[in-house]
Amino acid sequence: MEWTTKQRYTRIEEVTPQELQALENQVNESPWRQTFHIQPVTGLLNDPNGFSFYNGEYHLFYQWFPLGPVHGIKYWYHTKSKNLTSWENVGIAIRPNDEIDSHGAYSGSAIEYNNELYLMYTGNTRDENWVRHPYQNMAVMDADGAITKWANPVINHVPSGYTDHFRDPKVWKEQDTFYAVIGAQRTDETGCIVLYSSPNMKDWTFEGEVNTNMETFGYMWECPDYFTINGQGILVFSPQGLAPDGDKYHNIYQSGYCLGNLDVKTKTMTHSEFIELDRGFDFYAPQSMEAPDGRRIMVGWMGLPEVDYPTDKHGWAHCLTLPREISIEKGKLMQRPVRELELKRGTKVEAEDVLKNESKSFDGFYGSSFELIAEFINADADSFGIEFRVSEQEKTVLLYDAAQKKVVLDRSNSGAPVGTAFGTSRQCILDATKLKFHLFVDTSSVEIFVNDGEEVFTSRIFPDKESIGIRFFAHSGQASCKAVKWTIG
Ligand code: FRU
Repeated sequence: MEWTTKQRYTRIEEVTPQELQALENQVNESPWRQTFHIQPVTGLLNDPNGFSFYNGEYHLFYQWFPLGPVHGIKYWYHTKSKNLTSWENVGIAIRPNDEIDSHGAYSGSAIEYNNELYLMYTGNTRDENWVRHPYQNMAVMDADGAITKWANPVINHVPSGYTDHFRDPKVWKEQDTFYAVIGAQRTDETGCIVLYSSPNMKDWTFEGEVNTNMETFGYMWECPDYFTINGQGILVFSPQGLAPDGDKYHNIYQSGYCLGNLDVKTKTMTHSEFIELDRGFDFYAPQSMEAPDGRRIMVGWMGLPEVDYPTDKHGWAHCLTLPREISIEKGKLMQRPVRELELKRGTKVEAEDVLKNESKSFDGFYGSSFELIAEFINADADSFGIEFRVSEQEKTVLLYDAAQKKVVLDRSNSGAPVGTAFGTSRQCILDATKLKFHLFVDTSSVEIFVNDGEEVFTSRIFPDKESIGIRFFAHSGQASCKAVKWTIG
């Protein structure tokens, strides 16, 4: 179904409870509803927003268009959790119902200040000629969870030299000063980020553009995030407009990071190369926060803009990734599923075998929603790995290609096709003799942590509900395999 502009800009407040209920019923019939991921009750979810810890709970908001699986007028939807694992749907946090956010409460971030949670977000507006005018706005949540929007933007214009693609403030604090990075596009249509500072979250000063050595690297940088781990600075952003390059940049848009410290005085960052955070098909616009115990935790949107998904016909689209702990080890960024996810583990099965040029299944290894760890050692096989969500017609394949030293995820037979114009397999180099694959499989997704988070592959898959087989294989040679699986519930 083609959505008209009028339909995309219809607000949830304008439809009847019966219409909403009918949509929710349609969504609940979808065979691809997730069991342990944050997903919208109806409509479309995109970026994680305002990820924070405040008043004893984690808060995670997301971009939401309630009325269908399209990018219409965006709300902030609020979820919260005490343990990063079981999330409660709180409801709408920010409604785009003022002149300063009339066409969408776009992405932003949260920080605690004066015992309240400050939500800084982009108010997307369009004038009568459909020209975009972005504002950076504030909403404040008190300890009772009541959210009050400020009447006026805290940044009310785009500085000269930049286009109206100017959004997604991410705030942090250094000593007594708040800083915000904002994703921007220069007037020559190249992407960059700019820096603002504030003593009080209200008065913001434009410090200037962040100098990097990526002068021409895509046409727009969305959703920047800057943080440090043990003194090591990390800049994360989602550039649009990179062309595929070898195994890299095959999704429509990318998300990645550079290691390097941002000197807020000189606004300069000396940094490493840009590295994609995730090697899978569906990962975008991640946002991080610092947990009370000092861990840096990141969540991404498990989806991409401008790609149709099989759930569209069921009235909903997308979900968030599981929270990942980010660390820097030997100069490399590592991502691990947060340990709290172990709380979800149910029934456990284990198996161990030497696979000799064969593909086999182990007792109790099946399911459509599970956690699985498989370790492969002593391999002389050309390739070895796992097939999951298997039936006679379908399978999703994860393998290590020993000759090329590559991890490969193949979703060409995963079920209902998605984004096939961008290819059906993803791969990356990993030079290792032992391979540990740690998978979280949900009804319509998989997140794969390779060798304790050296690489991650995040993807939606849309198999039939009967496709529940799991097989382990070694081709042209052998490999020892040790596997453990838990139900998740
Ligand atoms: C990224 C993005 C952001 C914007 C939001 C709108 O996916 O385009 O730049 O704030 O989504 O929903």
